[in-house]
Amino acid sequence: MSRSGLFISFEGGEGAGKSTQIRRLAETLGARGLDVVVTREPGGSPGAEAVRHVLLNGAAEAYGTRMEALLFAAARSDHVEQVIRPALERGAVVLCDRFMDSSRVYQGVTGNLAPDFIEALQRVAVNGVVPDRTIILDIPAEQGLERARSRGQAAAEGPDRYEKERLETHEKRRDAFLDIAIREPERCRVVNAARNADQIAAEIEKLVDVLLKPKGGSRRAADSNR
Ligand code: TYD
Repeated sequence: MSRSGLFISFEGGEGAGKSTQIRRLAETLGARGLDVVVTREPGGSPGAEAVRHVLLNGAAEAYGTRMEALLFAAARSDHVEQVIRPALERGAVVLCDRFMDSSRVYQGVTGNLAPDFIEALQRVAVNGVVPDRTIILDIPAEQGLERARSRGQAAAEGPDRYEKERLETHEKRRDAFLDIAIREPERCRVVNAARNADQIAAEIEKLVDVLLKPKGGSRRAADSNR
């Protein structure tokens, strides 16, 4: 694949502030004239959004974690081929709210699925499209859940399939994300998300600037139309 774009995934537990930070980064990069694509998982393409619904309302829960992991992978495959790969090929900066590490953590570590099974699924789902950088927003589980609960949307709809799990499970996920960062230091950066949004945004901007400078390429929105 000729890939001139930049693929950044954002990971972390509930209420870590991923969507706020992605929105802010997209605004900053967009204001510089870059072609920015903001997307999310599960979902991000029409097919994957249909699967998202089944996963998050708990309809698949009764069929077991293996089934859920396969559905996350199916959604990811569609999202990669329909949205992420084409965007990277035209030189865009893709900001993705959760990606393959969420499956490793939620279905693998806290879902008790064997790492080999999860890795085999990932190989098929991502099909070579691995993030250039993964930003892990790290926050103590209790603080994150409190934030998630106080969000307008969560308050109106109630907790989803994953938000309703025990604090201990959320702490285990936090550790699992940090473990991934230790195992893959080239790809991952951990950002302390227990600070105010401005401080976090400034740190993320610096992390992304480092990636934009040396690579050049045609990430400008105008270039992609030529
Ligand atoms: P979402 O409403 O997007 O919330 P968040 O703000 O936490 O990202 O919910 C996505 C949920 O799906 C979240 O609880 C994590 C879970 N998830 C998995 O279990 N496996 C995965 O591979 C992905 C992408 C998400």
